[in-house]
Amino acid sequence: MYEDTIERVLLSEEQLDKRIAEMAVQIDRDYEGKKPLMVAILKGSIMFFTDLIRKMKINLEIDFMAISSYGNGVKSSGEVKMIKDLDRKVEGKDIIIVEDIIDSGYTMKYLKNMLEARKPNSIKICTLLDKPSRRETDVQVDYRGFEVENEFVVGYGLDYAGLYRNIPFVGILKREIYEK
Ligand code: IMP
Ligand code: MG
Repeated sequence: MYEDTIERVLLSEEQLDKRIAEMAVQIDRDYEGKKPLMVAILKGSIMFFTDLIRKMKINLEIDFMAISSYGNGVKSSGEVKMIKDLDRKVEGKDIIIVEDIIDSGYTMKYLKNMLEARKPNSIKICTLLDKPSRRETDVQVDYRGFEVENEFVVGYGLDYAGLYRNIPFVGILKREIYEK
């Protein structure tokens, strides 16, 4: 069905579901008695975010932030821009930043620094995917779904040039698509 786009499936719907359930249990445990503010980084984290919070049982709040760093390429420009800010103040809150993937780490570093300046009680980072081999700046990841190799992946919220976010699993994008 996706053979024109996807080289191979990296993480199936079942694998994603199982791992996200484990992450939800862990976060529930770590935040028992608290009400974390779960911050989804648009747009890539939407599927992960909704699946994760749906599996969590503690009380929580949600908010959204939109960031752009990529343009249409497959490499980070290193330049991070905020497109949409949070709706509310975060002072004194326990923030969990929810991302789709950490690559160079520039986006996360920018986000964490910016939110730290607003004096929350705590900030933790939760990412579905992590590409540690591509890191160019240090970021401490608190919750990580999967480590991935240095390959460009799409689906389950992740895009290439705005497309393929609706694929229900994570797959490796065919090279011919971005080398065209
Ligand atoms: P960083 O600033 O280099 O860490 O880039 C993080 C952002 O780049 C993520 O939020 C994604 O939007 C995008 N990104 C990095 N690697 C991939 C990938 O393999 N597929 C899709 N998007 C990616
Ligand atoms: Mg993104």
